[in-house]
Amino acid sequence: MEWNSVLATRNARMKASEIRELLKLLDQPDIISFAGGIPDPALFPTEAFRDAFSAALTGPKAGAALQYSVSEGYKPLRDWIVTEMGKIGVPCTADNILITSGSQQALDYLAKLMISPNDTVLVGWPTYLGALGAFNAYEPVYDRLDPNTNRPAADFTAKAEAAGGRVKFAYLSVDFANPTGETIARSAREAVIDLADEMGIAVVEDAAYQTLRYDGEAIPPILALEIARKGSIEDCRTLYCGSFSKSLAPGLRVGWVCGA
Ligand SMILES: Cc1ncc(COP(=O)(O)O)c(C=O)c1O
Repeated sequence: MEWNSVLATRNARMKASEIRELLKLLDQPDIISFAGGIPDPALFPTEAFRDAFSAALTGPKAGAALQYSVSEGYKPLRDWIVTEMGKIGVPCTADNILITSGSQQALDYLAKLMISPNDTVLVGWPTYLGALGAFNAYEPVYDRLDPNTNRPAADFTAKAEAAGGRVKFAYLSVDFANPTGETIARSAREAVIDLADEMGIAVVEDAAYQTLRYDGEAIPPILALEIARKGSIEDCRTLYCGSFSKSLAPGLRVGWVCGA
């Protein structure tokens, strides 16, 4: 079979996932790979998972656990996330939460929602390969965003127009970014909101590593800073992507988007 002749044009940029190639190294016992954000399996709360799965699959509610449900996700989990988001300065309701299969699916959904071919996505550089992999299928072009420099909005806009589209969103991994480990300073987060407001674009805030802070003072998420300015999540342009992959276990494949 000549598969290339039946593939959609949008897949022209699709290539073997670098992450998948990096993960292959994990099988080699003499290598400790720092290439992916791979949690130590010894830390997975296996007992708690066993109890939780057993409880969910026992008794009259067992069928519901395996049944179709609302697309937004399991309401008690969304309510729990609402409480956690409140603790980090993001007052919201369950209507602001969408459960996804890991934040990877969130990135795919958001790209599907916003990117037309030749639109521009602003990204830090280097940035998370998984995000580029999710966005690439929707045929964007990329422009580099360094929140610490004051590149004018008009410069981004002109470049996007020359590429045949518009700037749609800025994607930023805010805390302990993959692959740089960098955390974006509060002033730079504020500058991203200023830029996004000026350009009328969305901000996709990847917070996968946010809860992994062991010392130092936590910096509020971009979404929290924006709510502090504008009063309500409904008036905000930031879409916060959370994940349980680093705080519980990636095999769960559970993440969420929080936004207007
Ligand atoms: C920057 C970044 N975002 C998100 C994720 C997690 O994705 P998921 O929730 O799909 O496991 C990772 C995992 O390596 C990551 O490095």
